[in-house]
Amino acid sequence: MAIMAAGKGTRLKSRHPKVLHQIAGKPLLEYVIAAAAQIVPVGDIYAIIGHEAERVRQALQHTGVKFVEQKEQRGTGHAIMTAREALSGFDHFLVLSGDVPLINPATLRELKEYHLKQNAAMTLLAATPPDPTGYGRVIRKLKNGKPSEIVTAIVEQKALTPAQMKFREMNAGVYAFATKPLFANIDKLTTENAHREFYLTDMAAILSRAGERVLGVATNDFNQVLGVNNRAELARLDAVLRERKCAELMDSGVTIYRPETCVIDVGVKVVPDTIIEPFVQLLGNTRIGAECRIRSYSVISNSQIGSGVTVRPGSIIDESTIANGAVIGPYSNLRPGSEIGENAHVGNFVETKKARLGRGSKANHLTYLGDAVIGEGVNVGAGTITCNYDGVNKHQTVIEDGAFIGSDATLVAPVKVGKGAYVGAASCITRDVPEDSLAIGRGQQVVKEGWAREKRQASALKTSR
Ligand code: UD1
Ligand code: CA
Repeated sequence: MAIMAAGKGTRLKSRHPKVLHQIAGKPLLEYVIAAAAQIVPVGDIYAIIGHEAERVRQALQHTGVKFVEQKEQRGTGHAIMTAREALSGFDHFLVLSGDVPLINPATLRELKEYHLKQNAAMTLLAATPPDPTGYGRVIRKLKNGKPSEIVTAIVEQKALTPAQMKFREMNAGVYAFATKPLFANIDKLTTENAHREFYLTDMAAILSRAGERVLGVATNDFNQVLGVNNRAELARLDAVLRERKCAELMDSGVTIYRPETCVIDVGVKVVPDTIIEPFVQLLGNTRIGAECRIRSYSVISNSQIGSGVTVRPGSIIDESTIANGAVIGPYSNLRPGSEIGENAHVGNFVETKKARLGRGSKANHLTYLGDAVIGEGVNVGAGTITCNYDGVNKHQTVIEDGAFIGSDATLVAPVKVGKGAYVGAASCITRDVPEDSLAIGRGQQVVKEGWAREKRQASALKTSR
């Protein structure tokens, strides 16, 4: 099996290789590989890469496919010529396009079985979308005035004659080939066309003229054969997948209000009876337990959230873990490495990073907790700041179980506040605070009795003069 993925994707106008552009949180090519892997062992899949080959290889290596490098991208026909050696070990093989990501494994299986049963040299997948503009068109042989299964040519959009414009059946860029006739004839391809490229599509006419059997199988579900050539098509397929994802989640028992406003990646898992409000984004490999409520405008990526968690509006949660019953937000910013314990609270305008907040602990207002290990039942007062960075290195703050940090405390790390200790409001803590003690680190309050009254009287005298 070959997947053509070497092209630059000129029409995307991007610095990045086309097949690494993402829909619903995964690169285009990853979808095609996943579909292919349903049909053949993953070790029999050859991804033909070229433009930014190293980046593509690195991004998809984990799938286990093999790679063939097409150093110069001289067309889809040239891509298959490049993979000749890799593919000649098979009697037949499928060819998929790396930019046709929604292809359905069941369709591939049908294509393969039909091709083998019919003993064809080439079988292509066809469809009739509402608007076939831009795709190659399938020209079928007429039998009793009606199109038959036999294909005589594929004509690219730019080469269509005015008379051929009436052919509305598109070539999906997905094929089955018999190895022998293909490679016996592939050198007949030329670059006499609009793009000066070797078109794999020309093999239809070449094989047909050589007396080989070239067939077309049509699918009714044209969504699965849509290609991604520009940003608008990328957005459309992204929307198709996300709509499908929301439908699956709702089917499984998750409530999503206004699913059309939510952005949920395909890799996300949510347990039934969780409620997702409008305009929520759930990204990457995020996992959410049961009976949670994810309120509007929250963006959660690559995070694990337990059951019964409330995420209030406008919260950002990235690479973090939140245990059962915790309450986050509104407007919390949980940066990577935040671990929020059971029933803990993180409130408005609280930022955490590499911070553990133990069971039942609270940091409810306007706080920064970075590189912090905080025990259970700790109260972190409003405006508390861990000063974790000295301009060169990061240092840790430890706050043990049951400690009480008064509002507006600054904790200059490395520093430790012992079990059950108190830190007075507005303290700047630079030394460890022992267990069960009280630490106060602030200027003494001075009271000048009558000072304000005297000041007012003095200025009243001035203006009356
Ligand atoms: C191609 C077909 C067209 C079909 C459409 C379906 C040709 C000539 N045309 O057009 O009939 O309707 O797909 O989506 O094949 N690639 C390489 N190496 C190359 C050139 C391309 O690997 O040298 C890869 C691309 O990365 C892409 C795929 O082949 O994944 C298709 O190439 P693309 O240029 O997008 O072809 P289309 O113009 O879409
Ligand atoms: Ca394409």
